[in-house]
Amino acid sequence: MPRLPESFLQELRYRCDIESIVSSYVQLKRRGRTLLGLCPFHSEKTPSFNVYPETQSYYCFGCGAGGDVITFVRQMENLGYVDAVKFLAQRVGMQMPEEGLEDPAGQLRQVILEINRASARYFHHLLVSPQGRPGLEYLTGRGLTVKTIKHFGLGYAGGEWDGLARHLKSLGYTESQMLAASVVAPRKNGGVYDLFRERAMFPIIDLRGNVIGFGGRTMGERGPKYLNSPDTAVFKKSRNLFALNFAKAAKEDKLILAEGYMDVIALHQAGFENAVATLGTSLTSEQSRLISQYASQVILSYDSDEAGQKATRRAIGLFDQVGLKVRVLQMTGAKDPDEYIKKFGAGRFKLLLDGADNAVEFELEKLRRKYDLETADGKVSFLKEAASLLAGIQSPVEREVYLGRVAQEMEIDKQALALQAEAVLKRKGAAQRKKEQSDLKNFMQLRPGEPQGMPRRGEQLTAAIAEERLIGLIYKNPDYAAGVQQRISPEDFTDEGCRRLYELLCQRLQAGDSLEVTALGQQLEEQDFSRLAGIIAASSGVHYTKQEAEDYIAVILRASKIKTKEQLAGLPQEELRQYIQSLADRKK
Ligand code: GTP
Ligand code: MN
Repeated sequence: MPRLPESFLQELRYRCDIESIVSSYVQLKRRGRTLLGLCPFHSEKTPSFNVYPETQSYYCFGCGAGGDVITFVRQMENLGYVDAVKFLAQRVGMQMPEEGLEDPAGQLRQVILEINRASARYFHHLLVSPQGRPGLEYLTGRGLTVKTIKHFGLGYAGGEWDGLARHLKSLGYTESQMLAASVVAPRKNGGVYDLFRERAMFPIIDLRGNVIGFGGRTMGERGPKYLNSPDTAVFKKSRNLFALNFAKAAKEDKLILAEGYMDVIALHQAGFENAVATLGTSLTSEQSRLISQYASQVILSYDSDEAGQKATRRAIGLFDQVGLKVRVLQMTGAKDPDEYIKKFGAGRFKLLLDGADNAVEFELEKLRRKYDLETADGKVSFLKEAASLLAGIQSPVEREVYLGRVAQEMEIDKQALALQAEAVLKRKGAAQRKKEQSDLKNFMQLRPGEPQGMPRRGEQLTAAIAEERLIGLIYKNPDYAAGVQQRISPEDFTDEGCRRLYELLCQRLQAGDSLEVTALGQQLEEQDFSRLAGIIAASSGVHYTKQEAEDYIAVILRASKIKTKEQLAGLPQEELRQYIQSLADRKK
């Protein structure tokens, strides 16, 4: 079967939103960021069929069916792969690509990424060279430290017409390749000139660490204030966010969404490393979906002017659609976060962020109106619900404050109210833990593609779990992959399925290909693919840290050193002795 071009599949994926396709077969209910329904592939009374709009995948915890929109249609309509693609293409009015065509676009994308990286290096070197003085003065004049400038790889585009073009030419790139990367524009009479001149340069980096485009701020009066790279084969403004590559690693389950590059950079410098921005356009549904993949709450921190407030209302609607909790920061006395931090300091911004004040007050007020506080019964009911509400406040200090306020208001002992809130917390905690355990148990027992009656034991099982986690981690943080690959090779995997998945992910990352499920589906057997869907399902809402990567690697490496009985029997005497010695050493 000839492989379909990636670019075609990607477009198909964006047009055939999994939620809308599955909804035409299954009644789905939203539960947070996932959609839940009765599995169409096995009979059940309680729903265990999950759809994940964020990764455009589905997984049934009951029967282990899983995959992407194409697998879904295959299974529903009983079609082969190509026919399922045709079915979907027809539905959204897309022409099928001609058969047997290779994907030359893939090679071009690779070259564009190289050119972008070389350009980013060029701008950055220029910034720190004597000619870059104006750029450096501009950026430091706006309060950025050298460390921040390096961290974001900021640069300077000089005043020459073709400084970058000449540099790229010396590296061997052709004009048509530079044009494809949109770092230059065509001259009327042939030849090209640099697109960015006399600008402070902000490279835009995707989740894999690729430079995909640039924003350039004018330092003089000429041209638009910000000039952004036009969309190219590697850059879709509507599908990326500035600084998400950094923000996704922040431990928070919240992201701050600001309007501008400078806002985000100022926020990161002030310690708010979970800030991102759109790329000079208004928020799209694809971006809201992307955000939902890395956070369950978003804090809107748009400009305080009319336009910013309008954009805020629009964004709230988009986030509601993907089930994200939204909070709005109201900045007074400054136009945007950059200005606010400069004027009032990071501490004050933190207060603004933590000030869940409005929300809690608002909820309490609703409760007060719900019950008749003049009666004893009303008071008791109010207190019960208030305790539960206050138990939900994350910050212990803040919780204290509100507990005190409500206790005073209702003239009861603060300690009593605190105890009640604590009880609610404990119940919630226990229920949550129980649920997680049973999810995990289901997940492990019902994983598809596992030979029945061959239970893996001890270290092997632990390793298989670590292997799955590591795959989930790479899937969500492709930029960790290079480091992981240096340490672990596919041979170190004990689980065959995981080994194949790991091999494929590494291979695609090395080739600069995407890890989107639709792209992977083509290269995996159904069994492995549903396994992957399960791994993705289990990693939904999980935030992986580098430390976790280390832990998984350690477990996998340890297990890979443990040999099976069969392997041991075949070992030469000397190696067997060494092996036993190494086990003994480990026990110490
Ligand atoms: P500074 O003045 O550098 O602090 O920028 P700002 O972030 O405060 O600027 P503003 O609020 O005007 O713009 C917010 C974002 O909108 C910028 O980061 C750009 O992405 C985008 N933007 C601003 N001006 C232009 C423009 O002239 N053209 C385009 N395409 N985008 C712009
Ligand atoms: Mn600004």
